[in-house]
Formats: sequence, structure tokens, C-alpha cells
Amino acid sequence: MHVLDPADPGFARDPYPFYARLREQGPAARVALANGTQAWLVTGYEQTRAVLADARFSNVPPQGAGRPKADSPAQRARACLARHMLNTDAPDHTRLRRLTSAAFAPRRVDALRPRIEKLADGLVTELASRLERGEGPVDLVDTFAFPLPVLVIGEVLGVPEADRDDLREWTYRVGSPADTLPQGAVDEAWARLYGYFSVLIEDKRRRPGEDLFSGLVHDAAEGGLDDGELLAMAFLLLFAGYETTMNLLASATLLLLTHPEELAAVRCDPARWHAVVEEVLRHASPLEGTTWRQAAEDVDLGGGTVVPAGASVLAVLAAANRDPAYFPDPDAFQPDRYVSSADGTRAVPHAAFGHGPHFCVGSRLARLEAVVALPLLFDALLSSPGLRLAEDPADLPYRPGLLVRGPRRLPVSRA
Ligand code: HEM
Repeated sequence: MHVLDPADPGFARDPYPFYARLREQGPAARVALANGTQAWLVTGYEQTRAVLADARFSNVPPQGAGRPKADSPAQRARACLARHMLNTDAPDHTRLRRLTSAAFAPRRVDALRPRIEKLADGLVTELASRLERGEGPVDLVDTFAFPLPVLVIGEVLGVPEADRDDLREWTYRVGSPADTLPQGAVDEAWARLYGYFSVLIEDKRRRPGEDLFSGLVHDAAEGGLDDGELLAMAFLLLFAGYETTMNLLASATLLLLTHPEELAAVRCDPARWHAVVEEVLRHASPLEGTTWRQAAEDVDLGGGTVVPAGASVLAVLAAANRDPAYFPDPDAFQPDRYVSSADGTRAVPHAAFGHGPHFCVGSRLARLEAVVALPLLFDALLSSPGLRLAEDPADLPYRPGLLVRGPRRLPVSRA
């Protein structure tokens, strides 16, 4: 059996050779994880999509997993988060999903464009002036890729502008390993977010705004959402929406800085931004694997592979997106794949937003953020003469684990 330590920094930076070996062996491979548990990893494009569309793989976490006893404010907050719709199956999921999809209707998402432009412009103006002043390396994750998605979720949730710095700080803490912050800081941030969202929901009930979340609070279809469901939804939108989009923006920036010919091509022809964003999503899947699934019964995946009932299964999107049977030369960054050729053909859709009933609700919003913000970022960066990455890309750290993937920092400076 294969052994995998997701905390290994080398694996975090470049997991692709490991996944390629698994893929060569069949539809799903049994892997021993360093924490002593075992899991089945699905790495082929076709099989990943098949698993994600198959109701025999459940999203409901096994009893007790990730559900601490609710005996402190921080633990209550975490327990509440575990009730979100990514942790449900039909029919619960179907109801929650219908309401969320209505709130994220395309015209409502598209209406956010001017706000996203304004928020992105504010961030890039600030970072350009820091570079202009000749400040030492400026970290593009810290100044751009992280704050933008958090600010945009602030718009989605209708968080007043004055509160967004708090939201940003708590989100940062909640997403950080407890041992990297002063004792109690992570727990305190959980409790604060919980308290904050409770008050926000009360407020939206009394005074609905134009934001997408107000739409959800007031949608009475199918009995609407109760307070606990709304609280879990606010958390889910924040966490599903921010680190993923942060990774998309950070990986796109890194790939363009290290592929100057692609950067030049997209600056000559801005219509290429859409293809660049699709190729970044494929090449550097911001969500490395989906959330865990549990096999509800023995499932025959073909090729002699039977996943036994009760097994934990991970659909590895990053691996599916590098399947050579679907993406020739899969390790190369080639936005041309997603430019339609003369006969209208282009690469198959990548799996970065998942597949099946849990397909990402925020995919349109994430794409919009990227196509709006990346051109603004590169206009600002390239106006700074001699700009370069201040660290060897091969040394950049990535967050350990199997869930999310993207560079932790991207320091740039003027030569
Ligand atoms: C580049 C950015 C993003 C990527 C790569 C991404 C990817 C994904 C994937 C792969 C799933 C399915 C997970 C699974 O099946 O276990 C998912 C679900 C979800 N995403 Fe995204 N996401 C992104 C941005 C966003 C944004 C901006 C939002 C909202 C503000 C969002 C909201 C959600 C929600 C609510 C779900 C759960 C859907 C359900 O359970 O039916 N995502 N996302």
C-alpha cells in the first residue's frame, strides 16, 4: 500500500508525481496516511467525476468526526460549521442547494462586478505605491490574493465596510494552525465569528440589504432556512469562498510571472484572460481534493477495484486535472487549450469546481473575481520597472494537507 504524509513540505509543493503513480495503477488506490488512517484516492478524470456524481458516496461525516462537544463558545462555533450543506446528502442537500443557487443566480453575481473592480483597484493601488516607494519585498498573497476574496465575501454577506477588517483578521486566525498564533487566538476568533454572524443574521432579518445573503435570509421557499442553517451557510460561504479564490489568484500570479510569454500574450489580447483563468484552475487546482466521501456500500469502480462499504474516499481534483488521457502534456501551463480553435474545439472542462450535486456554487463569482482583478494587478505591477519575484519559485512554501493548494507567499520587489 502507498504511504502518504500530507504534511511533507515536498509533497505539498509538488504532489503531482505521486498522483501520477497512483493513476497509473487504476481507478482508485488505497493509501495509508501518516495519521494512521487509510483512504482511497481517486485520481483519473473520468473516475473522479463518476465518484462525485454517485449517490453511493455520502458527504455526511461519520458520527463523531469533526463534531466536538458543544461546551465552549469556540466549540459551539465549530459544531455549527459542521452542519453546512457540503456535509449533507439529498434530500437535505437538495433543499439547501436550491435556495443557495437562487441566491447565486448569474445576474446577481454579475451585478457585483463594479464592486469587485473597486475593491481590487484599492488593493493594487496601495501595493503599487508601496513598490513605488521602494519598500522591501511586498508579499502579493498578503496584499492582494488573500484580502480580495475576503472583501468580496464581505459584499456577498452584506458585512458593513467598517467591520471587514475584523472579518479579515478572524478569518485569517481561524484558517491558521493553532501553534502559529498566541494561545487562545484561534478559539477566540471562532467565537467572535460565531457571535458576529449571529448578530448579522438578526440584522438582515430586520433590515434586508441588496447582498446575496439577505436574499437567502428572506427566501421563504420550502420553509426557508432556520437560524442554525443560516449561520452554517455564512461560515460555509466564507470558508468555501476565500481560501480557494486566494489560491486561484496567487497561483495565477505565480504562473504568469514565471511564464512571461503567456503574460505578454494576454496583455496584448485581453480576451485571453478567460482562457488563462481556466488553465490556472486546471493546472493549479486551488482545491486539491474535494471534501471526504464515505462509501455507503461496496462500490465496484471497474478495473478490478472495489471500494468497500465504510471506506473514506477522496476525489483528487488536482490529479484529475492532470490526467494525460484528457489533457495532453498535462504538466505544461498552456492557456491555448482553452482558446477555441477554428473548428470550435477546446480542451474538456477541468474538474477544479468539482462535479455532480455539490458542484461549486461560487464558480461564477470566483471566475469573475479573477478576470476582473488579475488585469488590474498586472497593470499595476508592470508599471514598476524591473519588478521580479524576490524568491526562487522552487522554494515557495505551500500549505500542508490534501484539501487546498496554493503558494503561501509571493514576495516581489524592484530589481
Ligand atoms: C477558485 C475558487 C473556488 C474553487 C476552486 C472552488 C471549488 C469548489 C469545489 C471543488 C466544490 C465541491 C467540493 C466537494 O464536492 O466536496 C465547491 C463547493 C462549494 N463552493 Fe466553491 N470553489 C471556489 C470558490 C467559491 C466561492 C467564491 C464561493 C462562494 C462565495 C464558493 C462556494 C461554494 C459552496 C457553497 C460549495 C458547496 C456546494 C454544495 O455543497 O452543494 N466557492 N467549491
